[in-house]
Amino acid sequence: MPSLSQTDQEIFPVTSDLNDSGEITIGGCSISQLAEEFGTPLYIYDEETIRHMCRQFMRGFGNEYEPCHVEYSSKAFSNPAVAKIVAEEGLHMDVVTGGELVFAKAAGFPAERLNFHGNNKDRQELGEAIDYGIGRITIDSFYEIELLNDVAGERGVRQKVLLRVSPSVDPHTHMLTTTGVLDSKFGFSIETGAAAEAVEKAVAAENLDVVGLHFHLGSPIFELEPYSQAIDYVMQFAAEMRDRHGLKLDEFNPGGGFAVGYVGEELPPQITEYATEIAQAVRSACDRFGFDEPLLTVEPGRAIVARAGVAVYQVGGIKRIPNVRVYVSVDGGMGDNIRPALYSSEYTVRRAYDPYATPQEKVTIAGKYCESGDYIARDVDLPLLESGDLVCTPTSGAYSVPMASNYNMTTRPAIVMVKDGQARLIRRRETYEDLLATSLV
Ligand code: LLP
Repeated sequence: MPSLSQTDQEIFPVTSDLNDSGEITIGGCSISQLAEEFGTPLYIYDEETIRHMCRQFMRGFGNEYEPCHVEYSSKAFSNPAVAKIVAEEGLHMDVVTGGELVFAKAAGFPAERLNFHGNNKDRQELGEAIDYGIGRITIDSFYEIELLNDVAGERGVRQKVLLRVSPSVDPHTHMLTTTGVLDSKFGFSIETGAAAEAVEKAVAAENLDVVGLHFHLGSPIFELEPYSQAIDYVMQFAAEMRDRHGLKLDEFNPGGGFAVGYVGEELPPQITEYATEIAQAVRSACDRFGFDEPLLTVEPGRAIVARAGVAVYQVGGIKRIPNVRVYVSVDGGMGDNIRPALYSSEYTVRRAYDPYATPQEKVTIAGKYCESGDYIARDVDLPLLESGDLVCTPTSGAYSVPMASNYNMTTRPAIVMVKDGQARLIRRRETYEDLLATSLV
């Protein structure tokens, strides 16, 4: 009986397997059958993996700390089907725009369990959030303190808010996904005194109920120590603000950023390890600075959905440049997954049938877009590929589809959710009519 390699079992969805014909299956469906039915490029999401990851977080953090909320950061994949699963699993959710809020509403996500992030929310978005009865809004700027105070006042609401502070801690991830350092557009810097001024203003604002503090260091974070270092610093700041301005710390939110394994050589810490580090840091800071233990909220996005999603492409042209490189072009690329081009992100690639066949050769999986930087994976070892073959990239469930574009007027891929041998579309493939629909002559 063929099976996936040990490493692939850790990065493919939990239901993945090889069937008797040597084809990779997910949720009981073979990739080739799904590609035939729904076309390529195709994104396959495995419902069981999403639920599994939700439970890992709920249990992992819940066992270490009480009370604790796990808040799915929906930007990683904002889709009503996913929001529904996440709600059923008891998670909270964050949104960062009016558009993400619309998706949450479409899924009937409980308003009280939503948190509204974002560094530049506008009057209309804030109004829509309050009108939906949103649980929390995380304030990111001085402009927003005044704006939200005004918008809430107009509605006769005293809105629960957190303040996003920036602790100047570098989590050693990609520069473009680092947020909690001094030179960042996000949050109020503690180091410069901006955060202290923000606390003073927000606590005094009539229509704001400041329930606690938030920070987010960046993503993905493969180290544990930046979390405890930042927690300690922010709690010390909170204690000063309690003494100076009467700040309450009923809630504390050290963000998300939990890493996932994209390639076998770089696997992240276990969720339980993040949980232990964070819970211990919060408890010991509470002891030291004399706080009752606050409600702890963590915000995983990537770690909930990355492993659940597998992208499937069909091979087209193959170009061999002797002694230089082999380019295998597929029917997707930076339009559906810009992460390699933007962050040099690495992905594992597998042929969808007989994935470990030999002989193998080193190839670069290129996209179909008119950019030299358009690739899915560089110099990866694969069985000899032919035009028409299907290849797939596991751990494609986070930040690929949400950052997809219509560059070169391509249509964005179909997305299916698989479970128990059944597949259902959760987003249909775009059509040429969709492309023309918003343009006017
Ligand atoms: N909380 C806040 C305030 C955030 O800004 C983010 C991500 C998260 C939570 C969730 O982080 P996660 O657990 O997913 O790492 N497009 C990039 C990632 C950008 C993350 C933006 N903020 C990528 O493809 O890697």
